[in-house]
Amino acid sequence: MSVTETKIKELTNHTYGTWSRQKAWSTPMQITDAEGIYFYNDKGKPFIDFSSQLMCTNLGFKNKAVIEAIIKQAEKLPYVAPGFVTEAAIEAVEALRSVMPQELSKLFFSTSGTEANEAAFKLVRQSKFPAYKIISRYHSYHGATAGSISATGDSRRWYAELARTTVPGMIFAPDNYCYRCPFDISYPDCKVQCARYLDYMIKEEGNVAAMIVEPVVGTNGRIVPPPEYYPILRQICDENNVLLIADEVMSGWYRTGKTFAMEHWNVIPDIMTTAKGASAAYTPLAITATSDKVAKFFEEELFCHGHTYAYHALATSAIPAAVQEYKTLFDSGVPQKASEHLQQELYELADKHICVGDVRGIGHFWALEIVKNRKTKEPFDTKAEKFAGKALMPAQIGAEAMKRGLYVASWYDTMVIAPPLIITEGQIDEAIGILDKALEVGDKEAVETDVPASRSSEYKN
Ligand SMILES: Cc1ncc(COP(=O)(O)O)c(C=O)c1O
Repeated sequence: MSVTETKIKELTNHTYGTWSRQKAWSTPMQITDAEGIYFYNDKGKPFIDFSSQLMCTNLGFKNKAVIEAIIKQAEKLPYVAPGFVTEAAIEAVEALRSVMPQELSKLFFSTSGTEANEAAFKLVRQSKFPAYKIISRYHSYHGATAGSISATGDSRRWYAELARTTVPGMIFAPDNYCYRCPFDISYPDCKVQCARYLDYMIKEEGNVAAMIVEPVVGTNGRIVPPPEYYPILRQICDENNVLLIADEVMSGWYRTGKTFAMEHWNVIPDIMTTAKGASAAYTPLAITATSDKVAKFFEEELFCHGHTYAYHALATSAIPAAVQEYKTLFDSGVPQKASEHLQQELYELADKHICVGDVRGIGHFWALEIVKNRKTKEPFDTKAEKFAGKALMPAQIGAEAMKRGLYVASWYDTMVIAPPLIITEGQIDEAIGILDKALEVGDKEAVETDVPASRSSEYKN
């Protein structure tokens, strides 16, 4: 064992690896440097980051403006208690107000997406008392803490339930998952039943306070809804006096081509939560933004919530610089052209590989759904198998890509294509070339059929 390997082993012996059986947390790769869309291991080998780490390093690595802003703040005033106000917080609010919907006029700052959602749940349950139920969807992830994992649709919730760490009152609605429609109907003939069903569900359930959605579903599928979906949902929420929470933790910050994904459908939520790209992941930071209607309730009522690191000066110091960098980047037109190119390249890639059942997405946020059989849509792996210790096909494809110098995250059913927004067309070609080779791993075990890959986010009516 090399000195580095011994040190890594020492670390893993004394730390918990996330979301894994601890015997699997043995020799993770050490990353020693990173720049732009590349990161390097301890042997100096470069990897293209095709997933922005955990879909968060939207500006790539070593963005000078963001780094300098953080350094300046660290030297001046890294922290004061949240009851004080800092210049960093004042400037962060100003920057956020320049890009967020004006209707979301009151903000709370924390340090992770899950905390942003916990704050949203408290705001909702307190202000809508005695209504308390929160509707989520099966294809969702909202965070690891008690409330957020309880509102999570994926199988991480199942484990939390077994450990009795969930909270009551979280219920689940069908997904707008056109590739595998839960109602087995097709757009546009379906008349967007997945949205309209919500009215029935809310009325039959009773005591519903809010609905939480990932505007474009992140980890659980990069599912882009039909154009009518969110306008219908907004109307149903309004008619039933239910608040709409948009969890833009992953879909926010230009990931889908707009500052926040809800802008694609001109829908304003009552509460928006966001994190990840807000600081380009240079500092741990999250925001819960609420409408006047929600905020008004707390004028006389206690907002019984906070953290030692709420409004943390170092965390917030990254925001104005990141916002400016995003604006400059999108004014250049580079990401818009790159995302069109990415879409075209992914469509061509999917056509070539029989293990790709569906290719869907928007902006810099795409999924290749990996299947055994395109005709029957039989998957290689299931949701239940995700944590059962099985060697999942998307993970095998990801491992092959990694060997070849491409980092691409995977879930039990999809590859997560979410590169930094600074990626160029040439770099996309380089990444696609590697992914092309890696997908052969899936092709070898997939069944040849005469059915092409579907493109379920291309809505035509
Ligand atoms: C949509 C969404 N919400 C919430 C979270 C939780 O964020 P965090 O891991 O920062 O707590 C995530 C994390 O991936 C997410 O994708």
